[in-house]
Amino acid sequence: MARETSLFSGRPSELIGRQVAGYRIEREIGRGGMAVVYRARDLRLERTVALKLLAPELARNDTFRRRFTHESRAAAAIDHPHIVPVFEAGETDGVLYIAMRYVAGSDLRHLLDQQGPLPPPTALRIAAQVASALDAAHENGLVHRDVKPGNILVARGTDSDHPEHAYLTDFGLTKKSLSLTGFTTVGQFVGTLDYVAPEQISGKPVDARCDVYGFAGVVYECLAMRPPFQRDDDMALLWAHQYDEPPPLTEARPDLDPAVDAVFASALAKSPDDRQDSCLAFVAELRAAVAGGSRAAHPPTQVDVDVAQLRGTPAPQHHPGPRDATGAGRPLAPPPEPPAWAHPVYRR
Ligand SMILES: Nc1ncnc2c1ncn2[C@@H]1O[C@H](COP(=O)(O)OP(=O)(O)O)[C@@H](O)[C@H]1O
Ligand SMILES: [Mg+2]
Repeated sequence: MARETSLFSGRPSELIGRQVAGYRIEREIGRGGMAVVYRARDLRLERTVALKLLAPELARNDTFRRRFTHESRAAAAIDHPHIVPVFEAGETDGVLYIAMRYVAGSDLRHLLDQQGPLPPPTALRIAAQVASALDAAHENGLVHRDVKPGNILVARGTDSDHPEHAYLTDFGLTKKSLSLTGFTTVGQFVGTLDYVAPEQISGKPVDARCDVYGFAGVVYECLAMRPPFQRDDDMALLWAHQYDEPPPLTEARPDLDPAVDAVFASALAKSPDDRQDSCLAFVAELRAAVAGGSRAAHPPTQVDVDVAQLRGTPAPQHHPGPRDATGAGRPLAPPPEPPAWAHPVYRR
């Protein structure tokens, strides 16, 4: 018992330089409610990894252990460019650990805290990558259950067309679903409840569409800088997920086309049947809604006119956006964003 305590909850500096299960710990990267993540050296393969040590109480929870083993294997079996590769998962001195690729960059939580709301093109680029990861997981029979900004890592992309590379991590590692269905002691830390789906709260079976809900909540926050529901305490928040309508995104982002509100209303629907079937379907709808807004937001440019002349077709007419209820023919939406989105958003 003393050993596991020293491994997990001792002062982080005590572990620096120590060897744990074939990894030499170099420095702490961060900690969540139930784990500490270190940058470490894999001494067998001589490579840098992220080593996650899970809280000892989790190793004592049989339900969690079973899920940990099952889902670590399942996650390790998925080879996807937007899922953090798991190298090894095991147990040492009563502590469960996972070794995975070290992602140099930032997680989306830090990114939002540092940079504020993402410009829509950036949000859509990151969302599309995460959506492809989630859909791939779902096709492999895995439900993530804990989609949140902290579980999305954003690294430098390959080139200016792909300024960021997003990775999804932490499959099946949520204690939330255990505690929400009564497996853990009341009062234990369960992490954020900002993105938890209504069916997770009521203990119904969850499928891919629970991730559509959580993922849509994350994308909503990327654009609005607040999650769909904000309440003073956890009970009120759980209630809101189950019974309240989320405020339309355009309340926070009046520059976006109102069509986005319907897309989020569907993804955040209380009943899974009313949501999009997949995360990519949600992103496709969102992209179309955002593009519709930017088309409506400006009258035809000289390029539009030139292209129309080249094609021998009449120049496109400007159709006012749906919010132009005055009939004055002048779009009410502000002009498109300056090209801040062209700059990469990752940063440590
Ligand atoms: N593979 C990884 N590479 C680099 N950093 C990571 C990796 N996995 C997790 N992290 C970082 O470690 C921190 C703690 O992660 P975690 O314990 O899962 O907490 P949470 O997900 O609640 O933020 C996060 O801030 C994340 O940025
Ligand atoms: Mg995490």
